[in-house]
Amino acid sequence: MAEPESASVPHHVAIIMDGNGRWAKQRGLPRIEGHRRGVETVRRTIETARELGIEYLTLYAFSVENWRRPQDEVGALMGLLEYFLKRETSTLVKNQVRLRTIGRTDLLPDFVRQELERTIAATADFTEHTLVLALNYGSRTEVLDAAKSYAAAVAAGEIAADDDSWESFARHLYTKDLPDPDLVIRTSGETRVSNFLLMQAAYAEFVFLPIFWPDFSADHFKAAVAEFAKRERRFGRTGDQLRSPAATAAIPPLVAGR
Ligand code: IPE
Ligand code: IPE
Ligand code: MG
Repeated sequence: MAEPESASVPHHVAIIMDGNGRWAKQRGLPRIEGHRRGVETVRRTIETARELGIEYLTLYAFSVENWRRPQDEVGALMGLLEYFLKRETSTLVKNQVRLRTIGRTDLLPDFVRQELERTIAATADFTEHTLVLALNYGSRTEVLDAAKSYAAAVAAGEIAADDDSWESFARHLYTKDLPDPDLVIRTSGETRVSNFLLMQAAYAEFVFLPIFWPDFSADHFKAAVAEFAKRERRFGRTGDQLRSPAATAAIPPLVAGR
């Protein structure tokens, strides 16, 4: 199994899996058929992430806004999630991939939560590769939940009222024990973020692909990672500073992570 060879391999890739409905519509099929095909793409993508040595793969599978869809589509998506978990748990165990979730999963139907809990428990001890499913996830909801939890911690005296480090706050996000994504990929041709990891992707590289999710192949994934490798991540510095170690040494550190 490959490990990241250099900074050119992202530690954490997050994907907005979009375009299932349009993929189906183009073929005169019901939208749910696009979602079914999308599940096959998910399997392939998890496998490719492992091959590339990517440690964290986050997949945006259901947003807080997706409840607005027709009831039968929401029901079908929940059924597919259950099917995926039932079918893939043994492969995740075999490949030593840990499953995590982010989002308000307590509001998912019981039959989905049960499967999630089963798979999470079966894979809990693996450390090399983590699959994060964003389920009933929304960045603004996450910030609200974090703000409530942070305020409670301040009231309990666990955090100083004048603590203004980002890291202290970030410990209350759903992603508290995950690194920030290095690369965010969105399929379908839409170039928006749709309430996904707004805080965590502050310095992520974005790759938008003009293909629908069911068509996202290992080659597309590898090409997106190759594109990532070409980007110069400056984190506020100048390009010259990055290329000159002496100049880099003279850069003042970030002030309290702000
Ligand atoms: C992504 O495909 C799957 C989910 C959001 C669950 P869509 O269902 O959004 O497909 P389009 O964007 O309508 O084509
Ligand atoms: C984003 O896709 C959510 C997921 C991929 C789960 P949407 O299809 O719901 O996003 P919008 O509505 O086009 O922005
Ligand atoms: Mg969509």
